[in-house]
Amino acid sequence: MDVFRAPLAAPPTPRRRWVAALERIARTHLLSRFDRRRVVFRWRPEAVRLGESDLRVERVASLDELPNTVFREFDSDGQPLAWYRHFLNQGAVLWTAIEGGRALGSVWVLPAARAGDWYVPLEPDAGVIYGVVTPPWARGRGIAAQLSLAAARGAGGAPVYLDCMAWNRPAQRAFEKAGFEPVAVAGSRWREARAGPDA
Ligand SMILES: CC(C)(COP(=O)(O)OP(=O)(O)OC[C@H]1O[C@@H](n2cnc3c(N)ncnc32)[C@H](O)[C@@H]1OP(=O)(O)O)[C@@H](O)C(=O)NCCC(=O)NCCS
Repeated sequence: MDVFRAPLAAPPTPRRRWVAALERIARTHLLSRFDRRRVVFRWRPEAVRLGESDLRVERVASLDELPNTVFREFDSDGQPLAWYRHFLNQGAVLWTAIEGGRALGSVWVLPAARAGDWYVPLEPDAGVIYGVVTPPWARGRGIAAQLSLAAARGAGGAPVYLDCMAWNRPAQRAFEKAGFEPVAVAGSRWREARAGPDA
């Protein structure tokens, strides 16, 4: 397991948490119903706005490298063991930070060859970030930003992309801090709805 160090912001104030919780409810229950657009981002090293930190970021490429305490079976914020196995078997790499046996957040990088028909054409050596999650109790400290930055740097110069729902501003703020820039907007509910009954 490779280990990297990255900086962390101070935990948000209680007031900031309340505001963020209200925003989250508005986004997930209102905006997400109507706005199905996805913003596609590409990483540009010169656009990074983060400094150094103490976050211990770990790169996990096999199940043996992951402590079993992060699995759903032990931690309600985690995913089931089978889920991690499935993605690792596809060649995906997990970037995570573990504190007291719990994952503070996670970011996956999938090779372009496994990403299928993606929103924009991908270079053969590109990586696609997905599955970005910080558990609710750890949000607002810059963890998603640091993990996505570590994942992008870990690509060793190969292009790195991700997509994000247009209404998900917290996620976009995290990605923008990490140096991801919007390059395309894909799909809207209305266009997809006209395309077929399953849209
Ligand atoms: C989106 C998500 C990954 C962000 O994780 P995070 O570790 O809180 O991200 P960061 O702290 O790096 O940045 C989040 C931004 O939103 C703000 N924010 C979001 N939630 C917050 C909260 N509960 N408290 C305070 N600030 C919050 C932060 O202030 C920050 O913006 P800023 O730097 O401009 O102030 C997390 O909210 C999450 O897991 N959401 C559910 C899953 C999801 O939407 N994943 C992304 C899919 S593309």
